Amino acid sequence: MSDTVRLIVDGKEIELPVVSGSEGERAIDIGKLRALTGLVTIDPGFKNTASTTSAITFLDGEQGVLRYRGYPIEQLAEQSTFVETAYLLIHGELPNKEELARFSQALTMHSLLHEDMKTFFQGVPASGHPMGVLSAMVGSLSAFYPDSLDPDSDTDLHITRLLSKVRTIAAFGYKRKIGQPFMYPRNELSYCANFLHMMFAVPTTTYEPDPLEVRALNTLLILHADHEQNCSTSTVRLVGSSDASVYASISAGISALWGPLHGGANQAVMEMLKEIKDSGGDYKGFMEQVKDKSSGRRLMGFGHRVYKSYDPRARILKSMVDQILAKKGMSDPLLDIAIELEQIALKDPYFVERKLYPNVDFYSGILYRAIGIPEDMFTVMFALGRLPGWMAQWREMNNDPGHVIGRPRQIYTGANARDYVPIDGR
Ligand code: ACO
Repeated sequence: MSDTVRLIVDGKEIELPVVSGSEGERAIDIGKLRALTGLVTIDPGFKNTASTTSAITFLDGEQGVLRYRGYPIEQLAEQSTFVETAYLLIHGELPNKEELARFSQALTMHSLLHEDMKTFFQGVPASGHPMGVLSAMVGSLSAFYPDSLDPDSDTDLHITRLLSKVRTIAAFGYKRKIGQPFMYPRNELSYCANFLHMMFAVPTTTYEPDPLEVRALNTLLILHADHEQNCSTSTVRLVGSSDASVYASISAGISALWGPLHGGANQAVMEMLKEIKDSGGDYKGFMEQVKDKSSGRRLMGFGHRVYKSYDPRARILKSMVDQILAKKGMSDPLLDIAIELEQIALKDPYFVERKLYPNVDFYSGILYRAIGIPEDMFTVMFALGRLPGWMAQWREMNNDPGHVIGRPRQIYTGANARDYVPIDGR
């Protein structure tokens, strides 16, 4: 295979190098295109543009393959813990026993929030969306840790703080919303068990996290932990490329994740399933709407920019939902609706032709519901899971001595030069 491509511009031929990845992906390196031809490329939504090389996550959307640092997502979801997977993503290798113990201990040691932060929760309306609160709180961490403004400060310390404290912020935000006292973390609990404790314990009674729910939460967070250059991760890298602090970069990533076309889809899926339930199960009417472009509606939790086959995360989540509901002896009418919708969509030529399959958000909400997480916290859970990926990507960029500020070009389509006319003459 050729390692260059030839391009003819205005009769002049130039040669551009082809970059190859370790899994055979190929890209044309257009770094010298403008200098050689005066042209730039245009690619709205970056559908054909690789913004970086990266050694963190491999995704083959045609085959439905997802690997973190080479390890298949199926193996990690079944056998690893979220903390171990976070270490793997951030540091590049699975930890040995001592490394894992040190990392877990550091997460335990950083789980408290500065007491002044508690007043922040009082300063926002209790009814506000938890993603807005989370993004603001994470941004404000840079004020508590001003050394983070120096891009050469202790990155690993900031990463540990974030991974530990975002969990506490998320749980405190929920407690504030429902008017219960904040529950401080308990050092003897594991990462996920501690989160469940801070969410669901109350001072008046004892609470022990259910091991089944702890395992389900580990799996959920592992499945969300990284997904290469998606909207929120690209945002984290772009903000970080200006040497903004890691707290500012992650806060921006949280905001990018919030939208219903990205991480906010998990909440939107539940609203959609409830709407179908309330309509008495009018699947046909609903499917007609999502296929009609003028309705502005979509089948939420379906479709993906990269996956053109079944999202492997959705498959794992679906089987996890079955297991947890069976073990808890529960049923969920929204699960039945989701299964029915999936079956209808997978046979419908509209979805088949466009290669639209369930994505990670289609079944995650039903699993969150089964462990008692309220709907408006779903995207917060996604953010908690995605943190290691954002930070691994931020770290990879920050450690690259050749990294430059992200600054795309544009093709200007506005007015040509004209003279200003004072208001009386208009
Ligand atoms: N329902 C109905 N039609 C859809 C859907 C859907 N969920 N998704 C895509 N399409 C249609 C589009 O209308 C388009 O049709 P056309 O070719 O006739 O114009 C075609 O499929 C291709 O879709 P695009 O929007 O061009 O694909 P893109 O890669 O830009 O968007 C996205 C991907 C945003 C995920 C889209 O599939 C979507 O909106 N899905 C629903 C929201 C969702 O579940 N988001 C979560 C994604 S996973 C995540 O971010 C964690």
